[in-house]
Amino acid sequence: MKVNGVAYRTIWPAGDGRTVEIIDQTKLPHDFAVARLTGLEEAAHAIRAMLVRGAPLIGATAAYGLALALAEDAGDERLEQASAVLLATRPTAVNLRWALERMRARLAPLPPAERAAAAYAEAAAICDEDVAINRAIGEHGAALIRAAAAAGAPGEPVNVLTHCNAGWLATVDWGTALSPIYAAFEAGIPLHVWVDETRPRNQGASLTAWELNRHGVPHTVIVDNAGGHLMQHGRVDLCIVGTDRTTADGDVCNKIGTYLKALAARDNGVPFYVALPSPTIDWRIGDGVREIPIEERDGTEVSELTGITADGRIETVRVTPDGSPLANPAFDVTPARLVSGLITERGVCAASREGLRALFPDAGRAA
Ligand code: MRU
Repeated sequence: MKVNGVAYRTIWPAGDGRTVEIIDQTKLPHDFAVARLTGLEEAAHAIRAMLVRGAPLIGATAAYGLALALAEDAGDERLEQASAVLLATRPTAVNLRWALERMRARLAPLPPAERAAAAYAEAAAICDEDVAINRAIGEHGAALIRAAAAAGAPGEPVNVLTHCNAGWLATVDWGTALSPIYAAFEAGIPLHVWVDETRPRNQGASLTAWELNRHGVPHTVIVDNAGGHLMQHGRVDLCIVGTDRTTADGDVCNKIGTYLKALAARDNGVPFYVALPSPTIDWRIGDGVREIPIEERDGTEVSELTGITADGRIETVRVTPDGSPLANPAFDVTPARLVSGLITERGVCAASREGLRALFPDAGRAA
């Protein structure tokens, strides 16, 4: 996507042929900054501290992180150690494990002298595939928005509610949940997006709003608790969210608060769609509530808020009483029964084992 007229992805190899550049998402929306990753530790830190975030981008960054590690030492031990460091950065998005397993399957059989070059090539392939997958998700999802527009009053915008940031910043490009929105917008379908702020880290208010604003897509930022009220009053036509891990039975794990939106959508007859690239499917598990590891992040994300002051300074303030205990589960699981459909690169399917298998008959069979 373009920023100030320049086309960007969220991660790319730097001109020196060795290091990697990323958009530092901790600086948005107030500053657009590019950061350089020069080695394994910086890549791991970028994922942990959420300079990069979003399931597909976490996977792509881990792939490049492995390449950076092997550029220093491509022996067997380094391959294992670097993979373990990267795998431990964030527990919930399965794209991380997927990318590292793909990289190791490609690299382990090679002689060490060939591994670094092959690692950069494989990381680039993962990125290119992510872009193509997300474009396809956009086309399939846009058909749902087009259908909603046709069912509504002529010329009236389709109101789509989204949670967190599953836009181009969460992927290498285009996004998952926002890709259908961009595709529908480009096709001239009138639409408007309700953007959940997404406490505690505000990925909706800071990242989704920034993306949509840049792209000229009509949108309104709302507090997380407003969605149910808007649905009760007929002001949401459909919800589209992303997912960090989708089970073989169609349960989806996404940013904390997604489950409550799905419950409100069900109670109000609002379709609730989840957009996902196939590397987000964990074919090894079925019951998301019991089997998906939920990341617990630092309590300061709950107690503190960062923003820009009227005179342009970035400041962090505490909003809770000193000493109050804090809990910060970062994701929740929405059971498949609450999901109207899964938007994948191969089309839209039911959120069920049968639905997913019909689109991906051979995936994950060896696991
Ligand atoms: O904690 P984050 O910002 O990495 O969480 C991101 C999300 O929850 C996204 O919705 C999810 O990764 C899907 S991204 C295409």
